[in-house]
Formats: sequence, C-alpha cells, structure tokens
Amino acid sequence: MGYYRGMPNAQITGWGKCLPPAVLTNDDLATVMDTSDEWIVERTGIRERRISHVDTSELGLVAAKRALAAAGRDADDIGLLILCSASPDLLIPNTASRLQERLGNKQAAAFDLNSGCTGFVYGLKVANDHIGNYPDSPVLVVGAERLTWYLDWTQRDTAVLFGDGAGAAVFEPAEPGQGVIETHLGCEAAAGKALMVADFGTVMNRFGPDPTRFELMFDGREIFRQAVKGMALACQTVLAKAELEVADIDLVIPHQANERIIDALTNRLGMDDARVFKNIAQYGNTSSATIPIGLTEALEQGRVQPGATILMVAFGAGLTWGAAIMRWGDRTEALSTCIAELPPSNRTGPGLIAEAIEFFRNAPN
Ligand code: UT7
Repeated sequence: MGYYRGMPNAQITGWGKCLPPAVLTNDDLATVMDTSDEWIVERTGIRERRISHVDTSELGLVAAKRALAAAGRDADDIGLLILCSASPDLLIPNTASRLQERLGNKQAAAFDLNSGCTGFVYGLKVANDHIGNYPDSPVLVVGAERLTWYLDWTQRDTAVLFGDGAGAAVFEPAEPGQGVIETHLGCEAAAGKALMVADFGTVMNRFGPDPTRFELMFDGREIFRQAVKGMALACQTVLAKAELEVADIDLVIPHQANERIIDALTNRLGMDDARVFKNIAQYGNTSSATIPIGLTEALEQGRVQPGATILMVAFGAGLTWGAAIMRWGDRTEALSTCIAELPPSNRTGPGLIAEAIEFFRNAPN
C-alpha cells in the first residue's frame, strides 16, 4: 500500500504542544467589540483562545523539545527541521534557523514552510519523502503561530477566530505497513484573495504615509465554502489512493477553523462524531499548529490506539488544502517527558491585547 515502493514510510515517534498561558474568553472580547459569547459559540464553536507573550519561535521551541523527549531523541539527531508558520518571527533569516539555534542543533537543514493553515500537512508530506530517501535523518516538523499579531481588533468577523500556539512531531522510518500511507495536497489559487494579508511583504509601499498598516482581507463565507469542498475532495482522493473507505478510519484530526466547517466535512464524508477530534472550543484557530496540537491531545487522551488509522486534513490561505492518512505504530506513550516551559508571565489575555486595541481605536480609517 502507498506509493513509496521500496522506501520506508515515515512514522511519528514524538509529539508535543505548547499553548501560551494567557486566556482570552469570548466574554473578554465582548467587552471590546460588538460581539457576544452566544454568537461566537453558535457560529464557530470557539469559547476561548490563547494569546502569546512570546514570539512564534519560542512557542515552537517548547513544543519541539517536548516532541524530541517523547521520541527519546536529542536535538542533534535531527537532520531536517521544518517550521510551518504564516506568522514567522522574522522573514530574514528564516525562523527555522532561530529554532535550530535555540534547540542547540548544529547539523540540520532548516527551512520555513508557509502554506497557511495547511502547513503541517505539507510539512508531513515533505518529512515522509525525506525519510523515504534518507531513513537515517529524522525530521522535526513544527507548526507554530502567533497569528493574533496580525489581527485588527476592530474587525469582529476575524478577531474572534484565531489564537496562538504550537505543536511538533518527530518523523522516523516506520515498520512496513505503518506510518504515512498516503498524502494528497493541492491549492485553489483562484480563490486566494478570500484570505490574504494584503500590503505586507515586498508589495508594500515602504515610503507611503503609514507603512505599518496592513489589512487582513477576509471573505468568511467564501472560505467556508471552499474549505468544505477542498477538504472533502482531499479526503476522498487520499482514501481512494490508499484503497481505504471512510469506515477504515479510526480517528480524523481536522484543522480547527470553525466547528461548523468540521461538522459539514464529516457529515459529507458520512463520519460519526465519535471519530472526529475537536479542541477548537479551547484554542480557536491556531493555523498550522491545530493538527499537531490535536494529535498530541488525542494521544494524551488515549484516543489513538496502537495500529490506528488516522486521517489528517486541513485548508488555509492560498487557498491550500491537504490530507494525509497514517497508520500508527505500537507505541502511543511518550518515551520521556520534558520540563521545558515558556518564560513565566503574569499578563492576562485582555492585558496582552490592550495596546493593539488602543492602536486600532485611535488609528484613522
Ligand atoms: O483557516 C482559515 C481561516 N478562516 C476561516 O476559517 C473562516 C471561515 N468562515 C467562517 O468561519 C464563518 O464564515 C465566520 C465565522 C467568519 C462567519 O460566520 P457566518 O455564519 O458565515 O456569518 P456571516 O459572515 O454570514 O455573518 C452573519 C452576521 C452578519 O450580520 P448581518 O449582516 O446578518 O447583520 C455579520 O456582520 O453576523 C455578523 N457578525 C458577527 N456578529 C457578532 C460577523 N462577525 C460577528 C461577530 N459577532 N464576531
């Protein structure tokens, strides 16, 4: 099964997550914009999200250290480090190199991967291909985001959706018949304008009146429609490539963007709720981090059994989409745990966004 004939598939041998401690509830948001807990829960399933007091790479660092410990690996064992993010610390150098330095790894190739919220599924595909060619070179894939940095807190349709966080996974060669069985990736570029940060990058006018202003262009209904269509097609295609049926899937770990999107997708696939992992209520949409955070929590909650067949599926800016099927190995417990923590902070969610709210309130339209 699978098209990696003669080459090993990659298996996830370590997993970890990092959620910053500051919580921003729907009721907190309702004190600064025209929204309500009732509207947000009914339309999205989100109840609260985390706001980071540190940069993206620091969130990724803690998740990565925990994943390495779970795999029983040292940082220096890693031969390829992929940092999936749409909210990197810096553009130059890439954030993967900052992460590599902070991990203390001296030999890995390191690059950033930006496929929006689909980043981790794209990273998984690259990791699988790399392991197929270089089985002695473990891969660390990190999904880390500080997406709240982009938000305009006067825009209630987007501000309520996103949160910060990171998840990570270590990939090594699988036993025959296990690991990443199939992947299917794509991009509907014609719909890309539905979700873009316009005017940020070399397209921005550096010498204009206010170069610090940029806008998140967002058409929620169009993204919703494309998300259900693209993810359903990705799932059907990857299942067909793997010669599997929906009934063969033990657990789906979908991107967490909107609970209604997840439900529409799984209804379309004919999949019962008990096999669908959701944690959107607590964290909102953490973009490329949702799937590795979800996988980590599914393992912590005992929802991944040895030999389980897992479907991961996502969509995001681009509009990109992708799905992957993995057959889990025998081990569902971490080999060891890591005590790495973020630097302590006593700042609250509302306190962390207060400066941005003040900025947007006073900014000319
Ligand atoms: O990973 C990719 C990231 N993007 C997404 O996942 C977004 C996908 N889209 C969505 O999740 C949904 O389209 C939204 C949650 C963004 C919006 O839900 P919707 O059911 O499509 O609502 P809508 O845009 O049709 O708006 C319905 C109403 C509007 O008011 P009127 O025109 O009916 O008076 C909006 O102005 O809800 C209003 N509204 C809000 N009301 C209270 C929009 N945002 C809010 C809000 N609180 N936060």
